Amino acid sequence: MRHDFSKLPELIDRHPKGPESLIMVLQEIQREYNYLPCEALTKTAETLEVPLSKVFSVATFYNAFSLNPKGKRNIRVCVGTACHIRGAKLIQDQLENSLKIKAGETTKDLEFSLEVVACVGACAMAPVVIVNDKYHGTVNVNSARRLTKTKAKAKAKAKVKARTKK
Ligand code: FES
Repeated sequence: MRHDFSKLPELIDRHPKGPESLIMVLQEIQREYNYLPCEALTKTAETLEVPLSKVFSVATFYNAFSLNPKGKRNIRVCVGTACHIRGAKLIQDQLENSLKIKAGETTKDLEFSLEVVACVGACAMAPVVIVNDKYHGTVNVNSARRLTKTKAKAKAKAKVKARTKK
């Protein structure tokens, strides 16, 4: 995958050199690219003057960081006990079918990533699905399917519907 790394020096240079800046820099890179590209980690190590092994160890330690590309919309299905009892597996199956990927994967167009996560602390709303940072509670199979709609898909569907009406 090709990226535009032109913003990278500015993004890293905003922080003082040294390991104390590492997490903040990685958070910004994650926000910019939706994951931590290898080239960005190397550049971070060089610029902050931190060993590359330290950069990788921090990047792999925290769940907030990903070394694999993520979709624009990261869908996380809670499979904790409360959500499991209220049908989280059915929701996961629906999302996997709609997106044609398995949990842990990203769609080829980089629109969606799908993950399963342990309890996210919102059991009263179970079953819970989180899209980027937005929590969706009391999700069912139909509302799960709607979470996988993109504007492009909705427009295409509306066009087809309009054509068939004529
Ligand atoms: S088990 Fe899903 S929010 Fe707690």
